[in-house]
Amino acid sequence: MPDVAVLDYDAVLAAVSPREAIDRTRDAFLRHRRDEWLMPAKVYLESAPHGDFRAMPALGGGLAILKWISSFPSNPARDLSTVMGILLVSDAETSEPIAMLDARSVTALRTGAVAPVAARALARADAATVGIVGCGLHGAWTARCLATDGYGPGVCCDPRPEAAAALANELGWSVGTREEALAADVVCCITPGAEIVVDTGDLRPGQHYNMLGADGPGKAEATIGAVAACTLFCDEWAQASHGGELTGAVEEGLVTRDRVTDLGAVLAGEAPGRADTGAVTLFDSTGLAIQDLAIAAAAVEAWREGRVQAQTVRL
Ligand SMILES: NC(=O)c1ccc[n+]([C@@H]2O[C@H](COP(=O)([O-])OP(=O)(O)OC[C@H]3O[C@@H](n4cnc5c(N)ncnc54)[C@H](O)[C@@H]3O)[C@@H](O)[C@H]2O)c1
Repeated sequence: MPDVAVLDYDAVLAAVSPREAIDRTRDAFLRHRRDEWLMPAKVYLESAPHGDFRAMPALGGGLAILKWISSFPSNPARDLSTVMGILLVSDAETSEPIAMLDARSVTALRTGAVAPVAARALARADAATVGIVGCGLHGAWTARCLATDGYGPGVCCDPRPEAAAALANELGWSVGTREEALAADVVCCITPGAEIVVDTGDLRPGQHYNMLGADGPGKAEATIGAVAACTLFCDEWAQASHGGELTGAVEEGLVTRDRVTDLGAVLAGEAPGRADTGAVTLFDSTGLAIQDLAIAAAAVEAWREGRVQAQTVRL
């Protein structure tokens, strides 16, 4: 058995820049759309009342991955991350284990990276300003990736003033209220999904919403009325309709499959994005294993090319 590379949080972030994460994430959606990359359904394992674990496999580009990741909303109170886990990478041809990656950094990069991918496809062509509602780990990477792709300036909103200030200072953006953040061209909600932050009255013609926080059963950041009032897009219908921002509106019968377009279809030119400049578009991101594969592949390439150092273990 060959040695297995172990890339920690810093190694993954040193290996994959936000620019590369954005480009690879976009490519992943296209490859999955063309059935070149495979992704069985995500498995949820409840660990009530603490949170849940998710097992997320994907295969493509000569690699097979399994991400074993958590979402434990009460963890910050224990001074622990909400999201933690490990991502295993194997050779898709021989099945040999290749690498183990810190899953927190991979998740942060790919979750942030999908925000500009969706915004470029769905927001108005002249959209610039950003509102970030929830400035924790994933909110910060969402903001960094949007800034990398040319969006900004932005308003950072968080009940923890220090989190909003740190992100705003880093990007040269400003701290603001929920209302100020929701006035932006591109609004990204990335809170724990325990309380509503967007209602119907908040929607303004021409806006684009990336809803990133509700990535499991029981979570929501918008009222079902607000969701139903938008032109809807998702990363994957199966996940979005059962454990995403769309779930409540689907369960109430307000939203059906024919009203929701897959982001991959828009990126591939198979479906239209926004109908006109006045539409309010909403992208429900639940987080896909193909996005993780995209980042893992970039990290493994960087390690193989000697651009990043890794520890190794022999199994
Ligand atoms: N869609 C995806 O692909 C994806 C990926 C990873 C995580 N997530 C989800 O994103 C959410 C956030 O994860 P995280 O790791 O960034 O958590 P985190 O705890 O690091 O950050 C959450 C932030 O939201 C803030 N917040 C709470 N209530 C708020 C409110 N009403 N208004 C504004 N801000 C508020 C908190 O103060 C905190 O700073 C979780 O629900 C997680 O499961 C989604």
